[in-house]
Amino acid sequence: MNMSLMQENGNEGTHFQDVCGLILAAGKGTRMQSDYPKVLQPLLDTPMLRYVYRAVEPLLAADKISTVVGYRQELIQDVFPDQSGRFIVQNEQLGTGHALQCSLQALSGHGCPWCLVVNGDVPLIKSEPLESLIRETRRQQAVLGFLTLELARPAGYGRVLRGEDGRVLSILEEKDIKDNDRYLKIREVNSGIYCLDLAGIKPYVRNLTNQNQQGEYYITQLVDLLVREQKRVAAVKGGSNHDFLGVNSPRELIQAEEALRQEIVDHWLDRGVVIHNPGQVRIAPTVFIEPGVEMTGPVELYGQSFMERGVRLDSHIWIKDGLFGPNARVRAFSHLEGVKVGPSCQVGPFARLRPEAELKAGSRVGNFVEIKKAVLDKSCKVNHLSYIGDAYLGEGVNVGAGTITCNYDGKNKHLTHIGNQVFIGSNTALVAPVKVGQNSLIGAGSVVTKDVPEKTLAVARAKQKHLVRRKK
Ligand code: UD1
Ligand code: MG
Repeated sequence: MNMSLMQENGNEGTHFQDVCGLILAAGKGTRMQSDYPKVLQPLLDTPMLRYVYRAVEPLLAADKISTVVGYRQELIQDVFPDQSGRFIVQNEQLGTGHALQCSLQALSGHGCPWCLVVNGDVPLIKSEPLESLIRETRRQQAVLGFLTLELARPAGYGRVLRGEDGRVLSILEEKDIKDNDRYLKIREVNSGIYCLDLAGIKPYVRNLTNQNQQGEYYITQLVDLLVREQKRVAAVKGGSNHDFLGVNSPRELIQAEEALRQEIVDHWLDRGVVIHNPGQVRIAPTVFIEPGVEMTGPVELYGQSFMERGVRLDSHIWIKDGLFGPNARVRAFSHLEGVKVGPSCQVGPFARLRPEAELKAGSRVGNFVEIKKAVLDKSCKVNHLSYIGDAYLGEGVNVGAGTITCNYDGKNKHLTHIGNQVFIGSNTALVAPVKVGQNSLIGAGSVVTKDVPEKTLAVARAKQKHLVRRKK
């Protein structure tokens, strides 16, 4: 159960003992046109920054990965409690170079000679190229190494300027190029991923200036400063790999999300999950699916969801944080969140299971049924048009159509407890708090306000009268 795609990746790779990490995540992301920090924008219901941690964490010790935050930093700290104590605050966002300036002191506290710096807006990034960058920077004994990529449409990126001998001279930010066609046409760009020799870089970080179009301190200016003093810079070519693409606009967010979606669907197809209509299946990287599960898109699976062997999901299903036992089946148009569905249970079509709904083996929940914070013990049936909330239903309970647990008195929520093998007639209102003893039967249309003993037939409705019909 602890083997989602996220953690599976997280368990592989090497830990570099002498490298710490820095994720740049303080910017607002103005081009997203959202009040939300860019790095929290969701891809497959998972915040952008989570994907960056997923790539970095297999390589470095978790307690040596710091994150620079600034714009609405409290939101980011709330979403990532696992990173607490490792946030560095950049109060004013004066640029990527300034983010590094704000971090140097904290980084030196890790006692690592090297630092891997990653922009927080590269959700497609994987561990392997990061590992290659670290190895290559050290092999070349460079003070700074960075990953470059080759793009057919390099717009928006910093261009990599190389001399005739191929050695890197500078990174030119697009806004500073000023219509110089020769530079704008350069297709090799900076990915925003760096490996720094911390001692070597320190004096240069101090000397960054903001004399540029944006009036910002650029981390990329380090290249100019180092080259000028003939220090070694390694520009490591990463090819045209889309994994390095930065996300700066809603369009890029959706493109990255689509790339991730396909990657994840392919991952599960390769592991024996049968996915029909795969183009319309969205699976978060936190979900785990056993081989032999079968689903038909459109389906959305998010959060900490886990599907055991033989689970079948029909189309038009939305699930978040759902645990499904072997051979459970969810039929079309169902919405489930925070649920446990036991082996061989059936849910839907058109069912809604809300947080803390738990169905034990062989139970069935049918159409237009809503279950909230309720346990249905083995082999229960709630097949039509019911609301079951704050309740326990014993084994083999059968709930007739239109039954409601009246759990709320306007102020508080109360419990309904129904014993084993009880049969509840249709259109019953169970006014909580109330208990029905095992093997009892409730007559259809009852309004049950008092506890019902075991093995009892309870009828709580007005008696039917027959009166003489008045003629007009
Ligand atoms: C940056 C690079 C550019 C590169 C591109 C790759 C600079 C100056 N330019 O441009 O060469 O091609 O990434 O995607 O670095 N951030 C902070 N504090 C700040 C400003 C930014 O932490 O004061 C963070 C942002 O939250 C973001 C990252 O740094 O995660 C990059 O910032 P962004 O504004 O996206 O830089 P780009 O313009 O994309
Ligand atoms: Mg960017």
